Amino acid sequence: MSEYGAVGVVGLGRMGLTLASGFGMAVGPGRVYASVRSPAGADRLRETVPGATVVPLPELAGHARLLVLCVRNADLPEVLGTLRPRLTERHLVITVNNGLPLRTLAEAVQGPVAKLVPSVGNEIGAGATLLVPGPRLTDRGTEELLGLLRAFSEPYVIEEGQGRTATDLASCGPALLAGAARAMVAAQREGGAPLPDDLAERLVTQSLHALSRLLEGGARLDDVVDRVAVPGGNTAAALDASGSALVESWRAAFRASAENERAKPAPRLGPEPGHRATTDPDR
Ligand SMILES: NC(=O)c1ccc[n+]([C@@H]2O[C@H](COP(=O)([O-])OP(=O)(O)OC[C@H]3O[C@@H](n4cnc5c(N)ncnc54)[C@H](OP(=O)(O)O)[C@@H]3O)[C@@H](O)[C@H]2O)c1
Repeated sequence: MSEYGAVGVVGLGRMGLTLASGFGMAVGPGRVYASVRSPAGADRLRETVPGATVVPLPELAGHARLLVLCVRNADLPEVLGTLRPRLTERHLVITVNNGLPLRTLAEAVQGPVAKLVPSVGNEIGAGATLLVPGPRLTDRGTEELLGLLRAFSEPYVIEEGQGRTATDLASCGPALLAGAARAMVAAQREGGAPLPDDLAERLVTQSLHALSRLLEGGARLDDVVDRVAVPGGNTAAALDASGSALVESWRAAFRASAENERAKPAPRLGPEPGHRATTDPDR
């Protein structure tokens, strides 16, 4: 029998809404429960996941054994403090924060823990999710969770130390690629015979659609480049020029992630009452 047939989401900001929509595809919207802090959060849930239910935070653990905490690190101590009286060893508690070590979360609750990073396409059943199974999550629990994630994404199991880099690629990726496409639209205005922006954007968008379908069909990135770029031609010249600029933009993303994490240390959650530190709390 399914252990995680209902899902509880805390916080309906960007991450929370994406995951409430995604898990709605996995378990059905009627089995998604969410706790919000402001009335605006309840409105966002009604619009995005009709059929999901808003419940007070102290009651959330009574509705679902899979709980996804989509709040900022600063709000986690209060959220966990409120949830804790109803948390049992059967509740799987998931964080979306790369800055929160799973070991710290595991010391604060009785049950299994994991880390999950969504990406923007999950709302329409596309894109990657990144899963880091944590202490006490069994292989069976991981498989069940992966089954849910497959309903709305392509899940990848990664190690905790890979979280930052994988997030920059999978989660920032869609925005960065959209930004590069937007820059192409802007750059064509400088040409001798610029197109109207709307037409230029549609042409670039068609390029993205075509690339996506070629890759879906099994092509590798190098195949697409080789098919279009002729040595000495205009595409090859553009690739030469864009290579270093794009690499520098990814470096900026990696640097900003690292600096943000340094600036915001992991929250102190406090141990779960009765928790005994073990040398190896892993699965
Ligand atoms: N955005 C990304 O691309 C991304 C990617 C990976 C990881 N993350 C991490 O995920 C976390 C959430 O990010 P986000 O972008 O979704 O943040 P966000 O848009 O600020 O959303 C956080 C939400 O948590 C709610 N909240 C806070 N305390 C609460 C409580 N006690 N009960 C119920 N709801 C509560 C807030 O409610 P109010 O609306 O009332 O303020 C807000 O809606 C951050 O730590 C971030 O670092 C983000």
